[in-house]
Amino acid sequence: EQVYLGVDLGGTTIKVGICDVEGNLLTTYEGPTGTEHGADVVLENIAQYARKIVSESAYTWEQVAGIGAGIAGFMDIPEGFIKLSPNLGWRNVPVKKILEEKLGKPVKIDNDANVAALGEAWAGAGKGISNLVCYTLGTGVGGGLIIRDRIYQGFSGMAGELGHIPLVPDLEAIDCGCGKKGCLETVSSATGIIRMAKEAVERGEHTSLALVEHIMAKDVFDAAKTGDETALRIINRAALYLAKSMAVVSVIVNPQRFVVGGGVSKAGDILFDAIRKYYYECAQETAQEGVDIVPAILGNDAGIVGAAGLNLRS
Ligand code: BGC
Ligand code: NA
Ligand code: ZN
Repeated sequence: EQVYLGVDLGGTTIKVGICDVEGNLLTTYEGPTGTEHGADVVLENIAQYARKIVSESAYTWEQVAGIGAGIAGFMDIPEGFIKLSPNLGWRNVPVKKILEEKLGKPVKIDNDANVAALGEAWAGAGKGISNLVCYTLGTGVGGGLIIRDRIYQGFSGMAGELGHIPLVPDLEAIDCGCGKKGCLETVSSATGIIRMAKEAVERGEHTSLALVEHIMAKDVFDAAKTGDETALRIINRAALYLAKSMAVVSVIVNPQRFVVGGGVSKAGDILFDAIRKYYYECAQETAQEGVDIVPAILGNDAGIVGAAGLNLRS
């Protein structure tokens, strides 16, 4: 029996998992990333965790048919390079080559959200759907396009960087971590939601959020659920821009389903009702027929499962 290893390389933890050929996650392991020690140490940690999880499992190293890794940031996927990962502080790191040398197995790398999209398509909220678009709403906004069952990477791997669609009108636009202004990510990420909440408190708006010491996205959802108007306005704004981006994406790739995951998606109905309402307002009717917007279901495992799937489905 062949198995596949999936690696989710985050800023603080590296998660590794073993999947079977159907996308069932058999076992997982996680350890510190070691970002502060630089790329060499991080890649060595990945190699060690990969060997460790296999040696502690019922499988042998010989049964590992391939390894995949999902990483946040802009990448050159065909070349296996990370071009820019603000999260890890990396520029031009040849991840694929280094890991293949260390592990002696085929390695595929891809963007974290592309990989989450593949995981959801393979074994999650998109099972059985050939054309879908996935968003991950967390520190940043990630996107992944699954077209005809496969990740669409584009010419160099930038396809699906949906968080950097410039959508916010100039007068309201703020700087994005990517160096441009008014990206979707500045409004619809957890970071954006927290920023809008702090600004509202500083403006002296009458809101229960003024009593929260370190505002997190969850505080904003909780406040919204109690009817707090400031919190509701912020969530509606995050939902509005997300839905606008979906309306744009819908006429480019015409997906059958939008899957929304990441920490922000835990807000539940209050967020999804708003996204659906605005999508209904913004999108072409023909791009709505038979199309739905649903929460992701694999949660934190989407990245590992999708990364394992890179060797089978990309
Ligand atoms: C990055 C993407 C990443 C997303 C989620 C964005 O800021 O540009 O590459 O997928 O954050 O981590
Ligand atoms: Na992406
Ligand atoms: Zn941006």
